[in-house]
Amino acid sequence: MYARAYVVVLAFTCLAAAASPVIEHAEVIDEGDSFLDNPHYLNNEQIGELFARLSRDYPGLAQTYSIGRSIQGRELHALALNAPAPDGNGDDLLRPMVKLVANIQGDEALGRQIVLYMAEYLASNYQLDSEVQRLLNTTEIHFLPSCNPDGFAAAKVSHNSIIINSNNE
Ligand SMILES: *[C@@H]1O[C@H](CO)[C@@H](O)[C@H](O)[C@H]1NC(C)=O
Repeated sequence: MYARAYVVVLAFTCLAAAASPVIEHAEVIDEGDSFLDNPHYLNNEQIGELFARLSRDYPGLAQTYSIGRSIQGRELHALALNAPAPDGNGDDLLRPMVKLVANIQGDEALGRQIVLYMAEYLASNYQLDSEVQRLLNTTEIHFLPSCNPDGFAAAKVSHNSIIINSNNE
């Protein structure tokens, strides 16, 4: 089941790459560049760059942090999304907190990327979409896209011919 979804996505990614040969290496998703235009996996360093950029671009909403390092020394990047409480109310201590953790098995890379897309989508649409605004006004969401960056890096080596656009980790 997982493997099948994985293969479909990889096939789609390869087709997308074949259609646009200018993309030769991974980059953090550009401003104004929808992930659907350029689907690819980010490596661990790029996850850190994406989260740093979201924290910079949406300072009242997004905070990046690290929960430590993997056994092989890779940073475990996390992001919190949480709209500030209305003026005068202080922190909303009763606001529910949710944490989304992905890539627990190193070679299950799809969830890792979906969590990244979700974090970016919610941060960049807070001002534009009242549903997103309502969600982040009432829920604090934490994202840990890769619980196992060492496993991802090891899986990438063994699947090197099919995982593209992530060759500079
Ligand atoms: C979210 O919170 C902000 C600040 O309190 C408020 O201005 C806005 O109307 C809220 N949005 C929704 C959809 O509840």
